[in-house]
Amino acid sequence: MSEPVLIGEGMTGGYGTGADILHDCTIAVDAGEIAVIVGPNGAGKSTAMKAVFGMLTLRAGSVRLNGQDISGLSPQARVGRGMGFVPQTNNIFPSMSVAENLEMGAFIRRDDIRQTMEQIYTLFPILRDKRHQAAGELSGGQRQQVAVGRALMTKPSVLMLDEPTAGVSPIVMDELFDRIIEVARTGIPILMVEQNARQALAIADKGYVLVQGANRFTDTGAALLANPEVRNSFLGG
Ligand SMILES: Nc1ncnc2c1ncn2[C@@H]1O[C@H](COP(=O)(O)OP(=O)(O)OP(=O)(O)O)[C@@H](O)[C@H]1O
Ligand SMILES: [Mg+2]
Repeated sequence: MSEPVLIGEGMTGGYGTGADILHDCTIAVDAGEIAVIVGPNGAGKSTAMKAVFGMLTLRAGSVRLNGQDISGLSPQARVGRGMGFVPQTNNIFPSMSVAENLEMGAFIRRDDIRQTMEQIYTLFPILRDKRHQAAGELSGGQRQQVAVGRALMTKPSVLMLDEPTAGVSPIVMDELFDRIIEVARTGIPILMVEQNARQALAIADKGYVLVQGANRFTDTGAALLANPEVRNSFLGG
């Protein structure tokens, strides 16, 4: 088996000196693919994403990006290595304009960012129309586009999304998934947490079901959708 683009392997750890939340938890994404993490509320999905991004100290396990161990790096250094991350909450600056949010996203770049902004406005045309508006005034789905766009401003080689469709209507969810597939097709592998488990697994090359900080099921998205145990326990039958 070849090495995934990004893997958090055997991750064990929690917040500060608190009890372990993750127990030997592994999540990964391969080149050209979309990997989806699902599981009940409080399962540790966001914690696993934060661990991969370097926001908590692991007691065991490692994080590797393109075969290199990055377990000791700060989140900012990981961004410098090509990781983009859209957290579940507080993922935009509400009082800043859409354009300013995108500019903030490019904080580590010293080169010309105009072409990347154009690409993001092409991917999310509504953001071009609303570029001078405060991001906090936008609809939920539009704010998520700002958040994803902001993460794309660093031209990441892998993108992590924590519940990109939280709180949006089914139609907006479908549109966001279409855009996420489009991003993946440009060659950026995507590691994504989703509460819309059925729809997300339908577009997933690989799926992870996490329960109580541990891997319960790992398979292709299609196989998980077809698995009666997964369906009954995690997909509502
Ligand atoms: N900053 C924090 N400090 C301490 N404990 C935390 C912190 N964030 C989360 N936890 C705890 O870690 C556990 C896992 O939470 P986490 O947010 O990772 O779950 P989740 O699967 O993302 O849930 P959800 O579906 O609600 O987003 C929970 O018991 C939660 O209370
Ligand atoms: Mg979460």
